[in-house]
Amino acid sequence: MALLAGTSPGRRKGVVKWPLLPDEIADLAVQPDDLQAFRSSNDALRSVYDHFVSFICESIGSEISALEFAEFGCNSGYFLFSLLRRGALSAVGLDFTYNQLVFDFFNRKLGTQANFLFSEWDSFAHQPNHNAVPEVDVCLSIAVLCHLADPLHHLTYLCSRARRAVFVWTPSFPTDDLIMGFGQPAGFSNSLAWPLSFDNLVKPSRGLIELCLKESGFGDIHHINPIPTEFDAIDFWNVHTGIIAFRTSNARTVYSGGATTRVIPWDVPIELLAEEIPAAAQRVKRVWRSQPHLVDTIGGYNIVRLGNEWYAVPQGVPADFERDDPASIPGLIQGMTRDEVTQMVTRA
Ligand SMILES: C[S@@+](CC[C@H](N)C(=O)[O-])C[C@H]1O[C@@H](n2cnc3c(N)ncnc32)[C@H](O)[C@@H]1O
Repeated sequence: MALLAGTSPGRRKGVVKWPLLPDEIADLAVQPDDLQAFRSSNDALRSVYDHFVSFICESIGSEISALEFAEFGCNSGYFLFSLLRRGALSAVGLDFTYNQLVFDFFNRKLGTQANFLFSEWDSFAHQPNHNAVPEVDVCLSIAVLCHLADPLHHLTYLCSRARRAVFVWTPSFPTDDLIMGFGQPAGFSNSLAWPLSFDNLVKPSRGLIELCLKESGFGDIHHINPIPTEFDAIDFWNVHTGIIAFRTSNARTVYSGGATTRVIPWDVPIELLAEEIPAAAQRVKRVWRSQPHLVDTIGGYNIVRLGNEWYAVPQGVPADFERDDPASIPGLIQGMTRDEVTQMVTRA
């Protein structure tokens, strides 16, 4: 069986040659006249991938026997099996391509124990569906960011799952400018609606990837060195960014408890807080520095609303709601609603 997993330099991509070809992949079969081209592409790709694995191991300090690895968008798991064969403690791959059988096959053949988790990165929710990435020492993202409409969210998420290091390889602009290219939507014919339909050649610049890693707490950044390959080395290495970065701090991103809504320093009338979005309303109320609002005057009382609470304050009594505990204001009547306070005033 010949296997070509993932990115290939030429027109052959994701090609698996089975002795008895399942119908659904018959059109991906390598034809006899392609075989030589396939083999040389596969060799070139294998040398690049093995170079990635060596780079990861050497950057970490060659001792990987205590380390757990996870790769999101692992496909058939070439990197994970390679790391296990080099002594990694554990390896888990996640992908929405269902590769459990492929993992079983390679585990049997190689005597490894790589785990596969079915998972879809949801670019609308900015989080995985079905299975989350377990917390591990090292997360890998290889040729995946280019398929996602929200690559910075995804990379930040992976960083939040990595205790020690993140390796990322992705199509990219070789510039420190903070720019992003999107390619054509549905370039890889996914079934997602706009604007999630970008699925090929989404390209964050090198600067943007580095910024994302730094903001995520990864400060010790190393770029992978190009090696000669059969295909055009300049083009290939120049249109990708390949980085390993090491954790230097516990940065607060949205995935590790950082703020997801603004702290708004001014007061907003309660009517403007949409109750049909309870979570948002709750958040606003929680951060609110409420101001009292004089709403009405009834029978010698000022009817005042403060956030969610209602008060009737006897006219002439000094009441500073910012400074005083309302309970200490003489003659004050308190209620949950305007009607409740009005009724109590009427009865008083
Ligand atoms: C170009 S392949 C790279 C595979 C592997 N990392 C490699 O370099 O050989 C991209 C992989 O990402 C997976 N993928 C793309 N978008 C995904 C998503 N939204 N959720 C889960 N997996 C996704 C695909 O199924 C595919 O296996």
